[in-house]
Amino acid sequence: MLLLLYFLLVTVANAKLMINYDSFTGIPISLEEVKRRDEMNITFWCTNQIEPCDPEEGRRVDGSCSNLRYITRGASHTPTYRVLPAVYDKNFEPRLSKSGHSLPSARFLRTSLLAEGRLADRQFTTLATNFLVFMAGDVLSLHDTVKYVLWKPYCCQPKGKTDRDCVPNKIPDDDPVHRFSNIRCLNMTRPESFQSIGCVRNDTVPERIMSATPTFDLSLLYGNKLKSLLEKGRLFQSGLLKYEVEKGRMWPPSIQTGGGVCLSNQKPQETRCHNTPDDSMNSLAGINLLSVWFWRLHNFIATGLSKVNPCWNDDKLFYTARDINIAIATQIFFYELLPAYFGHENLLRDGVLSPTPGFRDHYSEHLFPQISLEYPFVLRWFHTTQEGNMNLYDTNGNYLKKVPIVNMTLRTGFFGMDDNMDYVTQGNFRQATAKADYMVDPDVAEVGLGPQQRASDLLTDDLAKNRYFGFQPYIKYREFCFKQSFKSFDDLLQAIDPERVELLKEVYENVQDIDLMAGIWLERLIEGGNVPPTLYCIVVEQLLRVVASDRHWYERPNRPNAFTYEQLQDIRKASVARMLCDVGDKVTHIQRQAFYRISPNNPLRNCNDIDVASLWAWKDPKCDNLGSQFDASYNTANFFKNQFLKLIRNE
Ligand SMILES: *[C@@H]1O[C@H](CO)[C@@H](O)[C@H](O)[C@H]1NC(C)=O
Ligand SMILES: *[C@@H]1O[C@H](CO)[C@@H](O)[C@H](O)[C@H]1NC(C)=O
Ligand SMILES: *[C@@H]1O[C@H](CO)[C@@H](O)[C@H](O)[C@H]1NC(C)=O
Ligand SMILES: *[C@@H]1O[C@H](CO)[C@@H](O)[C@H](O)[C@H]1NC(C)=O
Repeated sequence: MLLLLYFLLVTVANAKLMINYDSFTGIPISLEEVKRRDEMNITFWCTNQIEPCDPEEGRRVDGSCSNLRYITRGASHTPTYRVLPAVYDKNFEPRLSKSGHSLPSARFLRTSLLAEGRLADRQFTTLATNFLVFMAGDVLSLHDTVKYVLWKPYCCQPKGKTDRDCVPNKIPDDDPVHRFSNIRCLNMTRPESFQSIGCVRNDTVPERIMSATPTFDLSLLYGNKLKSLLEKGRLFQSGLLKYEVEKGRMWPPSIQTGGGVCLSNQKPQETRCHNTPDDSMNSLAGINLLSVWFWRLHNFIATGLSKVNPCWNDDKLFYTARDINIAIATQIFFYELLPAYFGHENLLRDGVLSPTPGFRDHYSEHLFPQISLEYPFVLRWFHTTQEGNMNLYDTNGNYLKKVPIVNMTLRTGFFGMDDNMDYVTQGNFRQATAKADYMVDPDVAEVGLGPQQRASDLLTDDLAKNRYFGFQPYIKYREFCFKQSFKSFDDLLQAIDPERVELLKEVYENVQDIDLMAGIWLERLIEGGNVPPTLYCIVVEQLLRVVASDRHWYERPNRPNAFTYEQLQDIRKASVARMLCDVGDKVTHIQRQAFYRISPNNPLRNCNDIDVASLWAWKDPKCDNLGSQFDASYNTANFFKNQFLKLIRNE
């Protein structure tokens, strides 16, 4: 009874402390206004409830108080900014061509500009694309796809004509694929915006609304609401995330009733569907796999920390493990993955990477965490390098079979069957990704959403969204990025090979008509890297902002609970190869640079030869322990791995 009373009091006290803010403007709102929003059922989207900030507090799960001046900025539903101002036709319909006509249809452009085919990349593994998708998923939400698959599934039916949200893509009669089918329409809806939800008057420029927090904080694991983390994430024991063990493999907890978003599970055999703070973990195969590995990595770190510091309580272990996990993911993204695609020299020159292994502090309290509308959008270019098959290999590296990766979306159950997880893990560092060669995998272009739709073309969708986001023409971004000017199609030769300029001339009337995504598709790749230059420019603009606007950025020496120099050096040893050695199923050998294919320069090695980040740098002198016994890093790796295996064996 007393306990109950205590909880009641605490709940009331907490409820009182919460302040309500408008999510779009970030300004506090009155209780009457909150009530009005509750009645309209828009509170979830339009309101942030936030406890007052404590400057000494670490990174919040909900992203609030990332900036002490603009405390909602950094939280879920922080508005995006635009690198360049929007352009629309009237009523926020897509802009027209220079001559005043509708632009050519998205599907026509996609089939005209990009061929379908399969060619393996010489350098990169599918692990690289999967990691990239995972990091994009950290700052995105997938509701714009869910919207036309589940919420408004009628856009290609007569009912769709009466719903302004429905903006399906027409398939021309002479379409190279569908002239042989009767499909003439691809489902699509307008992107969800503050205006479409009703948070902001709809006679203003539509601003996209996104649920993920706009900082790199592993929100796919930890969610973006403290309540969900407490209910679905934490085990409240030894700093661990909840987990299940099945046949010697650790998994996030699963939904027991067989429900959830895993719509493509092949029932009755496939039942696994993660029950985690953020459902998005169950989405694309790449997101799913990386989320499982980082989920385990949290528990790997927490287990290690509890051995290093036996006197730490659950809370301290949990939040330290989370902080380290986020730092490792960010370190791998910035210092291993991005250099591979964008070029190490390029990123150093442009200030994305730290020139020294020590601390760096670019924090500016005048900037707040925010994602540009363009950043996640241009990353869709990677659809052209998405490999359509997921190859499975046994643990000796023998090829077993392949499955279409589009069939793996919303199908967590597949990974839980037989030894699939072992085979898929091997495939991630053995299989090549698709080459950046102006070609798109036929599956991605025709059955992008797998069994969820009869037909879907992810790249047609990308080009069509380009217009509903109101992006300026390609050449405007090119001018912004490279100070070049474009008057005629011939000026495009600065950026695009002649035969592809020809293609553009055939489909667009005027050089100013070219859509941002169409231009990016056809650009020559950047020198010293493997991405189109305009994509590079927009991504770098974003990354610089992330580093400067995130008060809890892991390389900062002055943030709350900052790493020591020694700890930061340990974080810098992180690699995706090490991660798979630590938490990948049955990984004993891997190449040191696992985003690159196995080659004579990058041979398979025993995991004992892959650099290891020791957790002894986190040793707390207040805890009396055995510390120094395990100093050599070789032993350290095995020591921590054994602790983790003991957890799995429940010893
Ligand atoms: C209120 O909104 C939520 C989330 O957008 C939705 O799931 C629910 O069905 C809505 N309820 C009503 C009564 O409209
Ligand atoms: C704004 O909302 C009104 C009333 O719901 C609707 O009739 C109108 O079409 C909307 N306009 C836009 C641009 O969405
Ligand atoms: C993939 O899904 C399609 C339906 O979209 C189905 O016809 C096909 O058999 C599936 N392939 C595999 C290997 O599961
Ligand atoms: C459009 O969506 C509906 C509902 O999900 C689906 O039945 C239909 O097959 C889709 N159309 C196409 C062309 O995929």
